[in-house]
Amino acid sequence: MANKIKKIGVLTSGGDAPGMNAAIRAVVRACTHYNIECIGIYEGYRGLIENWVVPLDARSVANTINKGGTFLRTARCMEFMEKAGRKIAYNTLITNNIDALVVIGGDGSFRGALKLNEEFNFPVAGVPGTIDNDINGTDFTIGYDTALNTVIEAVDKIRDTASSHNRLFLVEVMGRDAGDIAINSGIGAGAEEILIPERSDLGIERLINSLDASQKSGKTSSIIIVAEGKTGMSVFEMREYLNKHRPDYDVRVTVLGHTQRGGSPSCRDRVIATKLSVGAVDALMNGRTNIMSAIQNNKQVIVDLTVALSKDRKINEELLRVAHISSL
Ligand code: ADP
Ligand code: F6P
Repeated sequence: MANKIKKIGVLTSGGDAPGMNAAIRAVVRACTHYNIECIGIYEGYRGLIENWVVPLDARSVANTINKGGTFLRTARCMEFMEKAGRKIAYNTLITNNIDALVVIGGDGSFRGALKLNEEFNFPVAGVPGTIDNDINGTDFTIGYDTALNTVIEAVDKIRDTASSHNRLFLVEVMGRDAGDIAINSGIGAGAEEILIPERSDLGIERLINSLDASQKSGKTSSIIIVAEGKTGMSVFEMREYLNKHRPDYDVRVTVLGHTQRGGSPSCRDRVIATKLSVGAVDALMNGRTNIMSAIQNNKQVIVDLTVALSKDRKINEELLRVAHISSL
C-alpha cells in the first residue's frame, strides 16, 4: 500500500542521554533516504505546544553524531499531560503538515506518544533514549553504555584514593527505578557491593555483614555502588548509620549525578542510536504506528509501544550472582 507520509517530525523528550543527537541525525538521514521532509521540534512536547520547530535536512545534522546532549533540547512538559495541551500539540503537527512523529525518550515520553495516537489517530514511533536502560522490550536504550563508561571511569579514580586511605566509598549512581547502571557498572568497576532499587532486601544490615566478611578476607578498602532512590536509605543516611554503628569504617560518599548524562556518546551508543532511528522511520514508512524501535539479541526489531510500557522488566538475577562471586 502506498504510504502517504511526506513529512516526519522528530523530538527528544524527558531526561537527555548521550547519543540522542546521533538518533536525530539518523532520523533526518532516513527521511533524506526516503525523499521526504524532516522537521525538528525543540524541547520535546513543549515545543509542540509552543510551535518551536526547525526544518532539518541531511547537511543540517553534520558534526552532531559525536556530541552529547540533544541539540533539539529536551523538556518535561506538564501541559502535555492534559488532553487540552495535547490538542494544541496536535494542531501544531497539522499546521506544520507533519504526518508522523518520532519520539526519542523514555517511558514517560512514550506514554505521551501513545496518548497522541489514541486521541488523534496520529502515527507515532518511539526510539528508546534514556541512560536508565529501563524500557521493556529492548535490550539497550540510547545513552546507557556511555553512562556506564562514565561511571566506571569515575569509580576507577575513586578506587585509587580509597585504597590509598583504606576507605569505604559509597558511590551513588543514577537509575530512578532501575538497577541496570548500578549492577553493570558495579561488575565492571569491581565493586564490593551493589545496592539496587529492585531488591530492597539487599539492605544495610546485609551490607555490614558483607563488609565484615570482606575485611576478614583481607580487603582494606571497599567500593559500594548504590543506585539512587528506593534502596531504603540515601547514601548520606547510610554514611550516618555506618558512622554510628561501625565507626571503624572510614566512610566517604560520592554522588556521580548528572555527569552520567553528559559526554560524547560511546561508539556503541552511536551505532545503537543510528540503527534504532533508521528502524523507526522504516516502520513509519511501512504504515506502522504505536511502535518502538528496539534492540533484541543485537538486531533492530519493532515492538508495540504497549510492550515497551509494560512493567514486566525483571532484574537479571544471574548478573547479581556474578557480581557477588566476582567480588569475593
Ligand atoms: P522519560 O521520557 O525520560 O521517562 P518523563 O517521564 O519525565 O521522562 O516524561 C517526559 C514527558 O513526557 C513529560 O514531561 C510529559 O510531557 C510526557 N508524558 C509523560 N507521561 C505522560 C502521560 N501519562 N501522558 C501524557 N504525557 C506524558
Ligand atoms: O531518567 C533518567 C534520569 O537521569 C534518572 O536516572 C534520574 O533519576 C533522573 O533522570 C534525574 O532527573 P533530572 O535531570 O530531572 O534531575
